[in-house]
Amino acid sequence: MIFDEYTIKSLIRPVPDFPKPGVTFRDITPLYHSPRAMRMVADSLIQRYVESPVTHIGAIDARGFLLGAVLAYELNKPLVLLRKAGKLPADTLRESYATEYSETTLEMHRDALSGGEQVLLLDDLIATGGTFLAAARVVRQCGANVYEAAAIIDLPDLGGSRSMQDAGIPTFTLCAFA
Ligand code: PRP
Ligand code: ADE
Repeated sequence: MIFDEYTIKSLIRPVPDFPKPGVTFRDITPLYHSPRAMRMVADSLIQRYVESPVTHIGAIDARGFLLGAVLAYELNKPLVLLRKAGKLPADTLRESYATEYSETTLEMHRDALSGGEQVLLLDDLIATGGTFLAAARVVRQCGANVYEAAAIIDLPDLGGSRSMQDAGIPTFTLCAFA
């Protein structure tokens, strides 16, 4: 299926002043409601990574889990969960960070990676980049490499994708709202 950026963007709903005054929340639930649009998103990412050296999919809690599971299944790669603090039961590595509207900690099971893996990080959106940067620090603590960080949406005015590139994390997004 041919990727149609206009269709994808039209299914991302702007919600003013959520969850805080001044934040325009980019709601992806209408996109997930459209099987055709979701297939476009998933197929684009599958096509991009099917011949790549990616060995593991790192999916970020919570919206990154949706795409992460699809990509891990289609690419037949192990799925590694990066979860908000206090959810993973075994020994974890952790990194704290701030987003556009929250402060939290991300954790990954210590035995999820052993070193040398090429990890594709997945989430729905890049805003300040705080979340992806923390995920990359966790992955790197294990001696693994972040092959790329992929998301549906970039909000370039918030500087996240720039900060990620400055930190040596290649980024890929399917659309942007500037
Ligand atoms: C949102 C989004 C990204 C992050 C992006 O997650 O899904 O993970 O914020 O913001 P940043 O680039 O400024 O770090 P949120 O923390 O709201 O959690 P959720 O997925 O559980 O809704
Ligand atoms: N996460 C951080 N900023 C966001 C925004 N503007 N919309 C949706 N999710 C977000």
